[in-house]
Amino acid sequence: MPVKNAMTFDFLHSAYGGESMAHMRYLIWAEVARKEGFPNIGKLFEAIAYAERVHAGNHFREIGGSTADATVTAGAVFGTGKTVENLQGAINGELHEVKQMYPVYLNAAEFQKEPGAQRSFHFALEAEKIHAALFQKAQNAAKEGKDVELKSVYVCPVCGHTILDGAPDSCPICGAKKELYVKF
Ligand SMILES: [Fe+2]
Ligand SMILES: [Fe+2]
Repeated sequence: MPVKNAMTFDFLHSAYGGESMAHMRYLIWAEVARKEGFPNIGKLFEAIAYAERVHAGNHFREIGGSTADATVTAGAVFGTGKTVENLQGAINGELHEVKQMYPVYLNAAEFQKEPGAQRSFHFALEAEKIHAALFQKAQNAAKEGKDVELKSVYVCPVCGHTILDGAPDSCPICGAKKELYVKF
C-alpha cells in the first residue's frame, strides 16, 4: 500500500537518495581499495554497496504508486581520497544514519502509522550499525598498511544484514533463510 503521510513520504525519498549515493560511493571506493592493494577491503565495500542497494530498493518500493518527479535532499559524503580516508567517510556516513537519520525517520513512520516505511527504516537502521563496525575494523587494518582479514562477506537480500565468512541459519534482523544470502 502506498505511503499515506507527507512527512514519511519525504523521508522515504530522502533515504532512497542517500542509500543510492552510498551504493555508488562504495563501488567507487572499492576500486580505489583494490588499486591500493586491499582486495578484501574492496570486497567489503562491494558487499556493503549491495546492502545499500537493498535498502534503496525497499524505500523505493514503499514510496508506492507515485511515479511523479521529486527533488531530494539527502546528506552524503562526496569525493575520493586514500582508502583510510574513504573508510572514515564511510564510518561517518553510517554513524549519521545510525545516530540521527534512521531513528528520526523510524519514529516519524511509527507516529504516522506507516508499517511499510517502519519496516524499511528498521531494516536499514539495524544493518547500518553492523556496517559502521565492519568499516571500523577495515580502517584499523588499513591504518597499519594491512588489508582487513576476511574470506567472504554475506548479505541478506531482504534487509541488508551483513556478516563475514558465513551466513546464519536465519537472518537476525528479518528472519530470511540462510540460502537467500548473497556471497561476495
Ligand atoms: Fe550501510
Ligand atoms: Fe535480513
